[in-house]
Amino acid sequence: MLLIVSGGIAAYKALELVRLLRRANIAVTAVLTAAGARFVTPLSLQALTENRVYTDLWSLTDESEMGHIQLSRATDLVVVAPASADIMAAHAAGLAHDLATTLLLATDKPVLVAPAMNVRMWQHPATAANVATLATRGVRFVGPDEGEMACHEHGPGRLAEPAAILAAIETFFARSLLLAGRHVLVTAGPTQEPIDAVRVIANRSSGRQGYAIAAALAELGARVTLVSGPVFLPDPPGVVVQHVETAAQMLAACAHALPADAAVFAAAVADWRMAAPLPAKLKKSAGPPALDLVPTVDILATLCRPGPNRPGLTIGFAAETDDVVGRARAKRLAKGCDWLVANDVRPETGIMGGARNQIHLFTQDTEEHWPDLHKQEVARRLAQRIAAALGMTPGSRA
Ligand code: CTP
Repeated sequence: MLLIVSGGIAAYKALELVRLLRRANIAVTAVLTAAGARFVTPLSLQALTENRVYTDLWSLTDESEMGHIQLSRATDLVVVAPASADIMAAHAAGLAHDLATTLLLATDKPVLVAPAMNVRMWQHPATAANVATLATRGVRFVGPDEGEMACHEHGPGRLAEPAAILAAIETFFARSLLLAGRHVLVTAGPTQEPIDAVRVIANRSSGRQGYAIAAALAELGARVTLVSGPVFLPDPPGVVVQHVETAAQMLAACAHALPADAAVFAAAVADWRMAAPLPAKLKKSAGPPALDLVPTVDILATLCRPGPNRPGLTIGFAAETDDVVGRARAKRLAKGCDWLVANDVRPETGIMGGARNQIHLFTQDTEEHWPDLHKQEVARRLAQRIAAALGMTPGSRA
């Protein structure tokens, strides 16, 4: 793993963390920021990691041996400990002004952040907003702890104990390869069905839940193909993304991506399309158009039909506004999928397009009603369940 040590009095604890990591047989490459180097020396980190320490984006020797892009990719996990308010702000803003921030921007690997700062800095709305931004992008956090600080103030902001950071890292590695060698297909976002040259039939899906699921599966080591309708989200790290617009294109991209060990159909596919979209722009002066609509292809039902290319585990989604549970039960059987994830998309729930979700999971023999969770957390739990269903428990790893 790559350990970024940024500036702060807690940087000395990074040395203890490295000692614990090495004892746990985890290979560490350290990157020290200029501020971090005011608290610990490159030599201490080098001695403890038994690896070269990187400090300078502009070092000709470092760059010729291992360029910063390669450094950011040749790792399984990036850990920032301690993470100052400054490095989190820079990463939230997408800045790349030194080696550490450039690596954070360039990496396609999961990032775990252990913040450490004065309590007021931690509680400042700017820091809170940066933490929320990073969490939404899938960055994981460990700590901070609450307690007496170096500045004699009391409250949250202390670096998590090295043992707790080690535990978070070990949990990551224990889970990370659960889906290694497996291919999972995910659909996400809305589809758009053209009416004329400029207008489309669309819906409010943001793609967030599907994108989070794709990212969570990739974090577990799966090869993930994400077929996405038009959304305003960055491609999740480590995921192959096929961008499509219409239901027909989505089906074609999914069929092309098969075979898959599992498939998660989170997309909000349009149910209707124009029988014959108009090639030119309809003029307003012609009056309100009569829309001649026909059903779109049902991707989920099509790909759940028995056949050699049916994914091993198929998971449909149901967006419902009434009788969520009853309709979801019926929908699972009607679509022929193994599992169905239902959510209540009445506007007052804020689920469609929002950051949180409350799902009901229907499997062949269980019905579960999950609590209200961040969409990333729903995704992580679902990815764990998929790994377990495919027989990939920590004990069964090759
Ligand atoms: N789905 C699909 N192709 C479609 C419509 C839906 O693959 N043309 C999938 C969705 O990705 C989701 C599931 O079917 O996994 C259920 O979608 P939903 O919109 O809840 O149900 P519909 O089949 O559209 O039925 P209704 O709108 O009547 O509830």
